[in-house]
Amino acid sequence: MNGASNRYPTAELRALDAAHHFHPFTDTLQLNAEGSRVITNAKGVWLTDSEGNRILDGMAGLWCAQIGHGRDEVAEAVYKQMLELPYYNTFFKTTHPPVIALSEKLAEISPPQFNRTFFCSSGSEANDTVFRMVRFYWDQMGKPEKKVIIGRWNGYHGSTLAGTSLGGMKAMHEQGDLPVPGVRHIDQPYWFGEGGDMSPEDFGIAVARQLERAIDEIGEDKVAAFIAEPIQGAGGVIIPPSTYWPEISRILKERDILFVADEVICGFGRLGTWFGSEYFGIEPDLMPIAKGLTSGYLPMGGVLVSDKVAEGVIGKGGEFYHGYTYSGHPACAAAALVNLEIIQREKLVERVANDIGPYLQARWRALGDHPLVGEARMTGLVGALELVPEKGNRKKAFADTGTVGTLCRDISFGNGLIMRAVRDSMIISPPLVISHDEADQLVALARKTLDDTWAELKRQGKVAA
Ligand SMILES: Cc1ncc(COP(=O)(O)O)c(C=O)c1O
Repeated sequence: MNGASNRYPTAELRALDAAHHFHPFTDTLQLNAEGSRVITNAKGVWLTDSEGNRILDGMAGLWCAQIGHGRDEVAEAVYKQMLELPYYNTFFKTTHPPVIALSEKLAEISPPQFNRTFFCSSGSEANDTVFRMVRFYWDQMGKPEKKVIIGRWNGYHGSTLAGTSLGGMKAMHEQGDLPVPGVRHIDQPYWFGEGGDMSPEDFGIAVARQLERAIDEIGEDKVAAFIAEPIQGAGGVIIPPSTYWPEISRILKERDILFVADEVICGFGRLGTWFGSEYFGIEPDLMPIAKGLTSGYLPMGGVLVSDKVAEGVIGKGGEFYHGYTYSGHPACAAAALVNLEIIQREKLVERVANDIGPYLQARWRALGDHPLVGEARMTGLVGALELVPEKGNRKKAFADTGTVGTLCRDISFGNGLIMRAVRDSMIISPPLVISHDEADQLVALARKTLDDTWAELKRQGKVAA
């Protein structure tokens, strides 16, 4: 069949998909029993499926479509680049104009300590690069015993061996005996789920101090780096208490270890700053990036490298034996460049900080009055609703974690809104171009979805009638 087509009946597309397509992060047996939803078109914040249904993309694809879908300008820039130079590598003392221009642009928009980017094709590859680069850095600095990287439980840093290991997703670790040696995890700053009787502020300090204790236990001379997302995305949009990042920063300033802020979700305007680190006032040494770098139009990732790390990995000479065939791919670089130009021209970062961010946040937080919602939180344009069986009681969760979240997600899809379920919370991360009117529609669809889910749970006897 012709890959670009939506001329085929849905049933036929589903049957072929079930027969030949192995989906990521999917129970394929279960999916094939139900059938995939076939998405055929996208424009702005709207998706269309093979049945002609319009669906509001509350997740910006997978947290990536900052400028919205279907912008001709990106397609034209990529087409032009492909006619000129569709591919060349950046290994053997070669480079090309798009990757040069993109490197310069990233140095311009990132915090002042960053002037170099190492390119790859995804967030997972970016974190594999981090894993190897921090170890190479310490080798170069004459401290090869500094090897351990500390991450956080329920953090997400991708799905490759290094990404899975640095992340703290226990279900992922269980498949394949991960993490790899040399990785440790501390607790996450998830007050709603794990804060017990502490205030958010006390809890923020307490979990941050686990970093201090872990460094002391392992020995500072053995710790290479600490890695964390400014706001955990895939873990459930965990927005840390206000005390958390200041305390982590204090600890890191006193210790001779590298700080890696994984900006794959928080980067490129999601929090109303170019990078999430700027929102929290933290100063990382390395920043893995992907997703919003190209708004998902083509796959590209990278690691922003601070002058301090560059001095170690480059300044001392010697080859870093690491790279990818597609590092700095010219067509992907062209897509990234035009995407960043659009973000700048349309002032999307400022828009999230001062306009659509506060607008949607106020309406999203108002969903907190729903009987099914224990907490409605949002920073910038990334938010979550915690679904609970007994409002006002943070300690009581639904039995069989994830069932209610999945039910709510499926109802939401049916209502024409994509929200993602993480355990029993609902997540949104819409395109930064979403209009006020579309934001109103999103919230109205979310409320209808909560009502429908509540009614279904009542029917099932899972909440008080
Ligand atoms: C914070 C973070 N890091 C890394 C990744 C992995 O990126 P990719 O799926 O492009 O490999 C993700 C993906 O969701 C992410 O959220």
